[in-house]
Amino acid sequence: MSTQLTVVVLAAGQGTRMKSDLPKVLHTIGGRPMLTRVIDSARSLSPQAIHVVYGHGGERVREQLSALPVNWVLQSRQLGTGHAVNQAMAQIADSQTVLVLYGDVPLISPETLSRLVAAAENECLGLLTAELPDPSGYGRIVRDAAGKVQAIVEQKDATPEQLAIAEINTGMLAVNAGLLRGWLDSIDNNNAQGEYYLTDIVALAAGSGVAINAISTSDLAEIEGVNNRCQLAGLERVLQRRQADHLMLEGVTLRDPARFDLRGSLKVGRDVEIDIGVLIEGEVEIGDRCYIGPNCILKDVVLGTDVRIEANSVLESSTLGDHCLIGPFARLRPDCQLADGVKVGNFVEVKKSTVDKGSKINHLTYVGDTRMGANVNVGAGTITCNYDGVNKHLTVIGDNVFIGSDSQLVAPVAIGNDATIGAGSTITRDVPAGELTLSRSEQKTRKGWKRPVKAKR
Ligand code: UD1
Ligand code: CA
Repeated sequence: MSTQLTVVVLAAGQGTRMKSDLPKVLHTIGGRPMLTRVIDSARSLSPQAIHVVYGHGGERVREQLSALPVNWVLQSRQLGTGHAVNQAMAQIADSQTVLVLYGDVPLISPETLSRLVAAAENECLGLLTAELPDPSGYGRIVRDAAGKVQAIVEQKDATPEQLAIAEINTGMLAVNAGLLRGWLDSIDNNNAQGEYYLTDIVALAAGSGVAINAISTSDLAEIEGVNNRCQLAGLERVLQRRQADHLMLEGVTLRDPARFDLRGSLKVGRDVEIDIGVLIEGEVEIGDRCYIGPNCILKDVVLGTDVRIEANSVLESSTLGDHCLIGPFARLRPDCQLADGVKVGNFVEVKKSTVDKGSKINHLTYVGDTRMGANVNVGAGTITCNYDGVNKHLTVIGDNVFIGSDSQLVAPVAIGNDATIGAGSTITRDVPAGELTLSRSEQKTRKGWKRPVKAKR
């Protein structure tokens, strides 16, 4: 922990341009709220405290992110960025270095933040700036003839000459808290927007002889803020592409990195191949030589080695052994454990079940709340009737069982090892091991029976 560092994250803005009932900083990038991403980056510096400045209506932010180790500071009226930072100052000792971040600038990296904090060493003001081809909208960095930073002017207050400056203020800065406090107490709101500008501290710093250390980053996505959903989507693509590149460089084949989405974390073995349109959510592990077919969704699953997930399969909160074959069009709902070599084929749904080695559930079947042994063959159209309308019941199936097609197993029910169930059976009582059991009305033929003919009029 750096006992010297305190982070202040501004997140009180309305976010009107998102046109959303959800507070802006709760909108997600790569499956995580923007504010969470900023806080994660900040936490990598191990600061003594992180203060998040939130606004009226931002209670929802506070509620949803209440598990985060941060201190929430209410800014009840949004009177400007300087006013916002000042709300947190009462809780920050003069000896601290304050790092100011923004809840809607989600891709800022730990590396850049540590450079910015270093730029504030020796009582300097560290500023993060960038050169933009189109600087409009941003505050401009005004330097003197010697190149020393003198001030920041906001777009709306700038002269035509200042508007031509390409170097902009990202908003992020780091400085000693004692100095910051003095400056914040002396800024006013006599400007085009009638706001207390945090940026006004730069001229005060220059005036009092504090050195201003402007560092920059060439990675513009890091400093980009999100004001509308176009920008949200833009940064989502940037993040996704970076994650995809990282995976490919780790040895994963992505058939199309532009059609791969990771909203969470993914651990991969060697020679994993991921086809187009795959979405990975939560925490996923994929073993060596697995193949994930087109349009699959994997959420919180662990796959052994040599597993094939064929197209259009959806897997959630489940664990698979080696050499399993899933899909196409299969669905594993939460709490499934499939042992090595299990096959789950098309239009099969499995929920809260364990399936032992080599068992096959190949077509059009529902298996729920079931303990299935090894080498079971489940015929097409088999249904475990696990729900009586009130409670869920268990189905237990032994090893080497053969279940004929179109059977219903009405739980609670147990089927012994090596049992065979005749097709079309409705099984309501336990089935003995090793025998053929069937429940089916006998087939009849009426000899000489004629189809009715249409009556003549
Ligand atoms: C600010 C900077 C500008 C910089 C730009 C980068 C000032 C005066 N200007 O301008 O130099 O180029 O960011 O994007 O700082 N916020 C609060 N409370 C407030 C006001 C703002 O929490 O009272 C938060 C907002 O939620 C937002 C951030 O501060 O995340 C920036 O506020 P915004 O009003 O968007 O500032 P800009 O005009 O973009
Ligand atoms: Ca802004």
